[in-house]
Amino acid sequence: MKVFVTGGAGYIGSITATELLNAGHDVIVYDNLSTGHRDAIPEGARFVRGDLGQPKKLARLLAEERPDAVMHFGAASLVPESVANPAKYYRNNVAYTLNLLHAMLETGVNRIVFSSTAAVYGIPKTIPITEETPTNPINPYGESKLMIEWMLRRFDEAYGMRYAILRYFNAAGALPNRGEHHDPETHLIPLVLQVALGQREHIKIFGTDYPTPDGTAIRDYIHVQDLASAHILALEALDEGSRTYNLGNGQGFSVKQVIETARSVTGHPIPAVEAPRRPGDPPILIASSQRIQRELGWRPRFTSLREIIASAWEWHRTHPNGYRR
Ligand code: UFG
Repeated sequence: MKVFVTGGAGYIGSITATELLNAGHDVIVYDNLSTGHRDAIPEGARFVRGDLGQPKKLARLLAEERPDAVMHFGAASLVPESVANPAKYYRNNVAYTLNLLHAMLETGVNRIVFSSTAAVYGIPKTIPITEETPTNPINPYGESKLMIEWMLRRFDEAYGMRYAILRYFNAAGALPNRGEHHDPETHLIPLVLQVALGQREHIKIFGTDYPTPDGTAIRDYIHVQDLASAHILALEALDEGSRTYNLGNGQGFSVKQVIETARSVTGHPIPAVEAPRRPGDPPILIASSQRIQRELGWRPRFTSLREIIASAWEWHRTHPNGYRR
């Protein structure tokens, strides 16, 4: 298939684009490089630098390329930033996705795989979280992604646009030559590995009084290559109907367990200091991904935290400056 990948220069988008090419698909990457990296885009993909805020350009490009489907990774995705600057999230995520959907309607492109998030659930009352768990986002980032989910459902009902909504839990890990590089970095695993590289003094543990066994928050870390394989399965199943899936590996690890595992993987002491809770952080997020396993036969290949952190460490160790030249 020919796949139009928005945000294909970003962490998850570039790795999925790489796996799409490996699976024999054609890829066009559309990215404004505001947070993505030119060097993350795989060789073999056509790259067009552009913004989702340019509807005419989008429609022209879709009319010219006639892709079979869109994979839509392009978004603003920092929870604290979304609280401080909600306008950016409703514009970049909601309004710009509407531009994309309009351009798809105009040009007859009617399949989309959409990057959603565990943040649509807010603070769930039950764990593990299934797709039936009520959505109740607690920040503009999660709201913006949920609004897009609503648009997709209505566009399917009204115009027959087929969608796969993939709600990611905590993406982590790397390929040998592609990994996580955000500026500024806010995610736990890359920050911990920056301490191991000597680029930071210590890691702050945000909250040690959560109702969890060691008092620190628990997350479900899923390897980015397992996310990529789920996208490809979801793409190939779109003709059979629209669907919504959680993507996690079904196990929770606390912040302290992540730091401890990183110490063991890197052989570095990784000093940690206790700090107050970070506003907006739910105590525990663990996915049930039974639905995609049952319906599409998806299986995560990286089930141990150690393997996930080891793959991230390999990338950070060999690319201490990320994609910076
Ligand atoms: N944490 C620390 N110290 C740090 C950074 C993070 O203790 O320096 C903690 C956080 O408080 C949290 C855990 O480590 O408890 C994981 O934090 P991340 O920032 O790595 O990831 P989040 O769980 O906050 O966010 C991820 C995605 C978001 C998505 C969210 C869903 O990155 O896009 O999951 O809740 F919205």
